[in-house]
Amino acid sequence: MAFTALCHTGDISEGNTGLFQAGRKSVLLVWPKGGELKAYRGRCPHADMPLDNTTFDGKKVTCLIHNWGFDAVNGKCVTHLVRNTLHPYPLRIEGDEIQVDVGPVKPARSPA
Ligand code: FES
Repeated sequence: MAFTALCHTGDISEGNTGLFQAGRKSVLLVWPKGGELKAYRGRCPHADMPLDNTTFDGKKVTCLIHNWGFDAVNGKCVTHLVRNTLHPYPLRIEGDEIQVDVGPVKPARSPA
């Protein structure tokens, strides 16, 4: 496993989500109300679109492209009878840093 720094613990709070970058990979952090912080691949498992247009009610993440909803705790789709799930990444907190293991990470492209 190779954990990569993603953000600081102060960048997200319980009951909220945030989309962050680990190199070229986007990571959706989700902190369910009354639950533990989770990290998922930042792309929707329905049509592989970026999860940058979502809502979160504290329990369910909804991708607003086609309104599929996913359980924040386990990533399972809860609005359609499909097996599509958000792809989880291992997550750990070191000091005030949130780290994830997204597999091999390429550096982000620098602006031209
Ligand atoms: S791409 Fe997210 S619901 Fe279709």
